[in-house]
Amino acid sequence: MKESITITDNRSGESIEIPIEQGGVDSGPWTKFLPGIWFKDEGFAATAVTNSSITYIDGSAGQLEYRGYRIEDLAKRSTFTEVAYLLVHGELPSSSGLEDWNNQLASHAHLDDQQNDNLLKAFNSQSHPMGMFTAGLAALSTLYPDARDVEDPEIRQKHVLNAIAKVPTLAASAAAYRNGYSGAQSSDELPYIENFLSMAFSSPNEPFQSNPTFTKALDQLLILHADHEQNCSTTAVRVVGSSHADPYSALAAGSAALSGPRHGGANEAVLNMLDEIGSFNNVNSFIDSVKNGEGRLMGFGHRVYKNYDPRAQIIKETAHEIFEITGKNPKLDIALKLEEAALEDEYFISRKLYPNVDFYSGLIYQAMGFPVEMFTVLFAVARTAGWISHWDEMLSRNTRIARPRQLYIGNETRPFLTLEER
Ligand code: CMC
Repeated sequence: MKESITITDNRSGESIEIPIEQGGVDSGPWTKFLPGIWFKDEGFAATAVTNSSITYIDGSAGQLEYRGYRIEDLAKRSTFTEVAYLLVHGELPSSSGLEDWNNQLASHAHLDDQQNDNLLKAFNSQSHPMGMFTAGLAALSTLYPDARDVEDPEIRQKHVLNAIAKVPTLAASAAAYRNGYSGAQSSDELPYIENFLSMAFSSPNEPFQSNPTFTKALDQLLILHADHEQNCSTTAVRVVGSSHADPYSALAAGSAALSGPRHGGANEAVLNMLDEIGSFNNVNSFIDSVKNGEGRLMGFGHRVYKNYDPRAQIIKETAHEIFEITGKNPKLDIALKLEEAALEDEYFISRKLYPNVDFYSGLIYQAMGFPVEMFTVLFAVARTAGWISHWDEMLSRNTRIARPRQLYIGNETRPFLTLEER
C-alpha cells in the first residue's frame, strides 16, 4: 500500500502525489500546486498546526500520554511539579533534579508586592477571578523586559520556570482579594501544592490547616489538567507567541481562551447546571431540554475523545474518595444520574458524547472549599505548564507566524457614496 494521496485538478487535468507522513499530509506541495485555493477548516477540525513531542492523544481509544507516559500512571504515581518538569524538559527528573526544580519554583513564587496590590485594587470583591488572573499574567510582562528576547533559549527557560512558579500566587491573590484580603504571600518553606492551598485558604485569624487527602487530590487534578496538546487555549498561546510577543502576553491569551464555557470554563458551568437542575427528579426533563436544543450538557463531549475521557475516569474515583471525607454532596447524585441517563440515550450515543475532564472536577473543588468562580483558575494554574512547554517547543523550532487565510464572501468592489448620496 502506498502511503500517499493523489490530488487531481480537474480544471487542468494535472495531478500531484503527496506523501502521508506521521498521519498527515504537508500543505506545502498543496499550496504550490493549487495557489490561491485554500483548505476551508473552521474550528481546525482537520488541521495539524505543528509536529509536537509533548502530548499524545488517541481519542477513539480514550488514551492520553505526556512525553510517552500514560496519564493513569502519572496521576497515581507522580506529582504535579514532577509532571511540569516532564512537560518542559521531556524527561522525568532525577531525585536531585526534582529537589532543585522544586526549590527554584518555591524561590520564584513571590510576586512584586506593589504591582500586585495596585493591580488587585483595580478590581472589586465580585470581579471574576479568571479576569483577575488573566490581567495578572499580562501585568507580569511589564516586569520582565528581558522576556521579550524570545529567541534566546536560556532566557526562555528562565521565564518558563518563573511562569510556573508564579501562577499559584496569582491565583491565590485573586481568591484572597475576593475574600477581602490583600494579595497572597507565598512561602518558600512549603511545597508547591501546599503553598497554594495555604495562600488560597489562610486568613489573618485562621491559619491554614493542611489536609493530606485534599493536597493529594489537588495535586492529581493539576496533573490531569497540565496539558492536552493543541486545544483552544494552547493554540491561542501559540498564535500569540508566533508573533514573538513575550511569554506572559502569550499566556494571558491562553488564559482568556480557557475562560470560555466550552473550554476551561466548563467546570464552573457544570456546577451552575447542577444547581439549575436542582433535584435528582429533574434529570430526565433536563436531558430532554438538551436534546431539544435548549442548551448543552456541560462537562460532556470533546472534539478529540470519541470514547470516555480517561481523565474523567480518574477524577470520578477521586470524587468518591473526597466525599468519603466531606460527606456526600447531593449534586454528586444528580451528576451520576445525568451521566447514566446520557450514556443510555441515543442522542448522546450517536454523537459519541461522554463525560469529559470537567464533569466531576468542580464537585471536588467545591468539596475542598473553593468557590465556583475559582474552578477555571485552578485549571489555568495547571495548564500553564502545558502552555509554556508548547510555547518553548514552538520557539525552539523557529516556527512561522500564525496567519490563516479566509474565503471572502463579502461585497464586490463598489463605489463610495457620500453621506448625501446614501
Ligand atoms: N451537549 C449536547 N450536545 C452536544 C454537546 C453537549 N455537551 N457537545 C456536542 N453536542 C452535539 C452538538 O450539538 C452537535 O450535534 P449536531 O451534530 O446535531 O449538530 C454534535 O454534538 C457535535 O458537536 P460539536 O459542537 O460539533 O462538537 P465540537 O467538537 O465542535 O465541540 C465541545 C466540542 C467540547 C466544545 C462540545 O462538546 C461542548 O460544547 N461540550 C460542553 C462544554 C464542555 O464540557 N467543554 C469542556 C471540554 S473538556 C475540557 C477542555 O479541554 O476544555
